[in-house]
Amino acid sequence: MAAELHLFVLWEKARFAERRIMDDLRAQADIEIVDVRELAFRGDPAASYKAFYGPKKPLDAALKTRKCGGGPFLLIVVRNLNPTYGSRWARDEKYYIANELMYDLKKRYREWAGRKHRVHGTTSVKESVRDLFLLTGHTAEEWARGVPDGVRLNIPAKAGWRTVVDDKGAELGLAGCRVLQEDRYINDVFFEGRFKGRDAVVKCSSTCAWSVGNEFRLASRLHAAAPPVVPEPLAVWTSDDGRRAFVVTEKVSGPSLTELLAQGVTDAQADGFAADILMLAKALKDTCVLHRDLFADNLLLGQDGHLKAIDWQLAIDRNDYREDPWVAAHPKFLYVVFGVNRDLGLGVWNDFRALVKILGLLPQTEAVRAAASRLADEAPQMTFEARPGGLARLRLRLYAVSLRLQMALRGRKHRKYAQLERRYRTIVGSVAEWEGPNG
Ligand SMILES: Nc1ncnc2c1ncn2[C@@H]1O[C@H](COP(=O)(O)OP(=O)(O)O)[C@@H](O)[C@H]1O
Ligand SMILES: [Mg+2]
Repeated sequence: MAAELHLFVLWEKARFAERRIMDDLRAQADIEIVDVRELAFRGDPAASYKAFYGPKKPLDAALKTRKCGGGPFLLIVVRNLNPTYGSRWARDEKYYIANELMYDLKKRYREWAGRKHRVHGTTSVKESVRDLFLLTGHTAEEWARGVPDGVRLNIPAKAGWRTVVDDKGAELGLAGCRVLQEDRYINDVFFEGRFKGRDAVVKCSSTCAWSVGNEFRLASRLHAAAPPVVPEPLAVWTSDDGRRAFVVTEKVSGPSLTELLAQGVTDAQADGFAADILMLAKALKDTCVLHRDLFADNLLLGQDGHLKAIDWQLAIDRNDYREDPWVAAHPKFLYVVFGVNRDLGLGVWNDFRALVKILGLLPQTEAVRAAASRLADEAPQMTFEARPGGLARLRLRLYAVSLRLQMALRGRKHRKYAQLERRYRTIVGSVAEWEGPNG
């Protein structure tokens, strides 16, 4: 028979037996190891177990998490060269037809890992096709061609958050949540629901959990200083291990400024927006907060006609500068991808400059121009710098090299070329400054 792709998963609590299992697999004449990699759950492990096993059999997900662990687990993709099928004994006390070698190896490894189903393995092609896709986001055909790029656990993060938001949210006062948006760059999922009778948005993150708490703290400070132009943060929750968090914020009902600009903004509206932007700027200055991501997508129109600034996740307190640990560990994200002030150089931010740019998009009424010139006058005092340190610089240089390579491989006509080039120039433009007398 033709070779078949299969997989084993050593859930966290089976990892102590990893060496022994890998040695045994390498010694199998009919097994070729295709790929071995560590994966981590996104969101709540119990809900991910449920999403993974649920369709196959009803599962006590909390018990499964206790027995198998919720930490990083090992995925081993193998090719069985001469598969044979025969009847094997299933848990529901029926015989079924299974891949004999996979069945026997799975049984052996489960014993080595202390039983308790800490090892998962596939025993039919149907099962391996499904599991490969859920665990890696790539189809079996893609795997048959080689190890695909961008392997990523494909159990939807929203499945992981559903139970957390329902349980913990209810304790806080949240009800009736439904998915609003999924898988934005660093956040897992957004829900909308009701919080003590008010419309609310819930932002969930397992990548930058600290920054979610940060959003609650700093947005609360800004809301207190300027209620019309910052939606009220209502509640926040962080898991005991600090790895997951969500923040509940009053929902702003209207469109973003980006959408408003596409529809056409009237002069009277523009005058009102200019006043809102000045109010926001004053509050930022008075509270010593730097938003760092002020652009038209993050300004939403409220029912009261005011523009409101959202997305305070990566805002910082100018007095005690602190980054989210994930953000700090990802210089490429912090300095090159995220932020609206790239033209100022890496690690230089200025909200006033960003607001001047936003004012430039509005109809140029007298009030808009006056606001822009006021902010431009004050902007020089509002600059904040946190330039990359030694290791981050090295990593950014390596990233620049990889960007150069991607540009060369793809060529100018590729749809991503302009983005790659922009990122490349952002880094290269700052290198000269690093090499300067203070660099
Ligand atoms: N308070 C809110 N009211 C209404 N919509 C919101 C609110 N907060 C977020 N959203 C919606 O979710 C999107 C993403 O939220 P945001 O906080 O900007 O996160 P991100 O960092 O992913 O951009 C927003 O662009 C907006 O469409
Ligand atoms: Mg945003």
